[in-house]
Amino acid sequence: MRIAPACVVSFCLAAALQGAAPARTPITCGPYLQSPGATDMTIMWETAAPAAGKLLYGTTPEYGWSFFEPEAVVLHAVALSDLQPGTRYHYKVLPTLPAEEAHARTGTFVTAPAGKDVSTLPAEEAHARTGTFVTAPADKDGFVFAAFGDSRDNPVVLEAIAEKVAAAAPAFFIHLGDFVANGNQSALWRRDFFAPAAALLSTAPLLPVLGNHEEHAPQYFQYFMVPAVESGSDTEAWYSCDYGSVHITVLDSQQDFRPTSAQYRWLLRDLASERADAAAWRIVALHDHVHSSSRRGPNTLVQKHLAPLWEAYRVSLVLSGHEHAYMRSVKNGITYVVTGGGGAPLYPVNLTENPFQVYANSCYHYVLFEADATSLRGRAHDAAGELLDKFSIDPPPPR
Ligand SMILES: [Fe+2]
Repeated sequence: MRIAPACVVSFCLAAALQGAAPARTPITCGPYLQSPGATDMTIMWETAAPAAGKLLYGTTPEYGWSFFEPEAVVLHAVALSDLQPGTRYHYKVLPTLPAEEAHARTGTFVTAPAGKDVSTLPAEEAHARTGTFVTAPADKDGFVFAAFGDSRDNPVVLEAIAEKVAAAAPAFFIHLGDFVANGNQSALWRRDFFAPAAALLSTAPLLPVLGNHEEHAPQYFQYFMVPAVESGSDTEAWYSCDYGSVHITVLDSQQDFRPTSAQYRWLLRDLASERADAAAWRIVALHDHVHSSSRRGPNTLVQKHLAPLWEAYRVSLVLSGHEHAYMRSVKNGITYVVTGGGGAPLYPVNLTENPFQVYANSCYHYVLFEADATSLRGRAHDAAGELLDKFSIDPPPPR
């Protein structure tokens, strides 16, 4: 067994507790994947007590590389870099010592096409988790990503959706906020999010979006590590990342986004950046909906302040939640998808006038997207996997 190269970084997170490792420390969350890149991946997990864990990883089920955490912590984050683009990796997390195989959990992940991002794939077994692996697409080839939100309060529905999404082997998935009913309650994160979504979390990196129910709780910022610095953001509430032909900008609609705000100024810089400009597709994700025929109706603040900027910078797709239904609208070249059917109580649709609506359905659901350099297609499925809606997004206008 080779010892891991110097490209591995273990984070001692603020929430980590120091102390001697007990004989057994079950994993209470994860493993889950964060900050995907073509050559990078962060693997995280939480243990019931401080433990100095071990991570095995490699491009085969035999792994080949190992990394020992230098100190005992509760919330573990191991950042791998210098990985091979477009490659499936297998990994195994051992919460204490190598001998503690009974508590081991395994998974796999796939790095993004060259020059861009990462993804992952499944694995699980009894107390542990075992993964399978899929070869990532070549540089310009297409990939699948998933989106859904508002899973709070209903781990049964979330588990069903997570299993369906995991079966689609997405490169990553976006959760559009409202993970739990109250973001300040750690027990809810474990019971209502990490446990029911485990099969998906161990195989697909998560791009998180802050919802109102997170309440900007410290748990959100401790559990998730987003590429804020890399995207020029001074907060982890909003950030952006690139994956293959896609540039994704994540906003925090619970904070000020008017033109005088710090968030708006960052959004402007991000959309005007070379990274965004070079992408074939620009996608925005935020919790609050934009167009809706459901309970809350249109969000006039977002429409007034953000939509003109999105249109000016050739954004093609805006993903959101908050309204607990599926609704697709198109206005001025932008497709707006509300995917708030992850488990929270459903809202009816067609209650209010939405002249831009193309399709709406009040049901638990998820959305899969296929993206490559020339096409971006979406498919919405209900929680049982039945197809609800299928659409293609027109390429953005030339500069
Ligand atoms: Fe919400």
